[in-house]
This record gives sequence, C-alpha cells and structure tokens, in this order.
Amino acid sequence: MHGLFIVFEGGDGAGKSTQSALLGRWLEEQGRDVVVTREPGEGPVGEKIRAILLDPATGDLSPRAEALLYSADRAHHVDTTVKPALARGAVVISDRYIDSTLAYQGAGRTLDLADLEPIAWWAADHLVPDLTVLLDLEPSEGLATIGERDRLEAADDDFHARTRDYFLRLAERDPGRYLVLKARESITAIQEKVRGRLAELEAADPEVLRVDRRSALRTLFGAETSDVEGTLAP
Ligand code: TYD
Repeated sequence: MHGLFIVFEGGDGAGKSTQSALLGRWLEEQGRDVVVTREPGEGPVGEKIRAILLDPATGDLSPRAEALLYSADRAHHVDTTVKPALARGAVVISDRYIDSTLAYQGAGRTLDLADLEPIAWWAADHLVPDLTVLLDLEPSEGLATIGERDRLEAADDDFHARTRDYFLRLAERDPGRYLVLKARESITAIQEKVRGRLAELEAADPEVLRVDRRSALRTLFGAETSDVEGTLAP
C-alpha cells in the first residue's frame, strides 16, 4: 500500500479549502481512505500555534519567529497526521504546506531563502508532496473576498505580490510535481483538472513516485543532496 500526498497552495481567497473538500469527498465516495487536513492549525497543538500566528492581537512577530512557528506547526502535523495516514495507504489532502512558508515568510517577509529552505524542509522531515496544486490568483482579487483580515492577510500589497510570484517560481522549478491553475476558473473546471491529474498520478508505479521524491530533493538542494538523502522520508 502506498499513500498519496496532495497539497493545495495559493494566495488567500483562492478557493483551496473548497477544492480540498470536494476532492476529499469524491475520493471517499470511491471507498478511499482520505484525510483532509490543513496548515496551520490541525489538532490541539496546531490550533494553539495558529492562534498565535493569525490573531491580529499578536501584533508584529519577528519574521524568523513567524517562519519557525509555521514550521513547528508543520513538523507536528507531518509527524502526527500526515505520515501515519500515508503509511496506512491513505490519500492525504492538505490545505497549504511548505510552499506557503517559502512564499509568505521567505519571499513575503524577505527572509534569506537559502537559509530558510533547509530549515523548512528539515521541519517537514523532507516529506515531498506527490502533487501540489497551485491556485493562482491576483492577490487583490482573493483578498477582496475576505471579510475580516487575519494578521497575514493584513500585510501590504507588495508582500502579497512577492508571495504570489514565489508560489509561481516554486512551481516552475519542478513542473512535474505541480499543477498550476487559474483560481478564477469555475469550481467544477478546476476540480475536473485536479481529478485528471490525480488519475495520471495513480497510474504511476509507487516505486517511481518514491524515486521521484528523491529527485525532487536533488532539484531543491542541488549538489548537496548527499546530506539530505540520509534523512529522506520513506
Ligand atoms: P489559511 O488557513 O489558508 O487562511 P484562512 O483560514 O483565512 O483561509 O492560512 C492562514 C494564513 O497563514 C494565510 O494568510 C497564509 C498564512 N501562512 C503563512 O504565512 N505561512 C505558512 O507556512 C502557512 C501554512 C500559512
């Protein structure tokens, strides 16, 4: 048995939660073991970290502290939810994952990405998604659909522009592992495309997926992969 790890990424108001829920329900109807989850905020520990991160009352948070808190939430999420589910062969669908930290904290808060990336991957235990669906949207369009803004949504326009650009760059860097869709397309059209891509993925040999995860890390870390491979998640 092998699980599948699917992630939805994109700016605020892009429709990730809707798409995650629809995909999860569709797979469940086919009798699949499915876990629909999210970051930040899964489980009691995640909820506490999420409250610190998103409550406007938190005020300014050091960007490195912010990156580490999102990464701490992810470390706990990966260990307690994602990996156990994948190990039993479930499909895990996560609303946001590591790209959000690289895009929002790295590009958005202008942290040095060369420093942040290895730390973020370490926190994620080097667990590479099988597919990341990026719902791309002009930030102003997404934010216009949001009522009361949380601490991150309240950041300025340049922050959101940098974040969007970086999501797209991450997808360009590893096109085989990404599906980039225009978030303005209809809910049904997006869902159809995701299901189509999932079917292709499921037709792939599990061993190929495993080897692909290794090569993804090689792409990410270039020549230094020997350091990473020892800790590569199964
Ligand atoms: P999300 O739960 O998607 O927002 P909402 O509940 O409003 O749909 O994410 C909360 C915010 O956290 C969102 O603005 C993006 C931000 N975020 C980061 O900045 N870094 C991260 O690593 C993650 C996972 C989210």
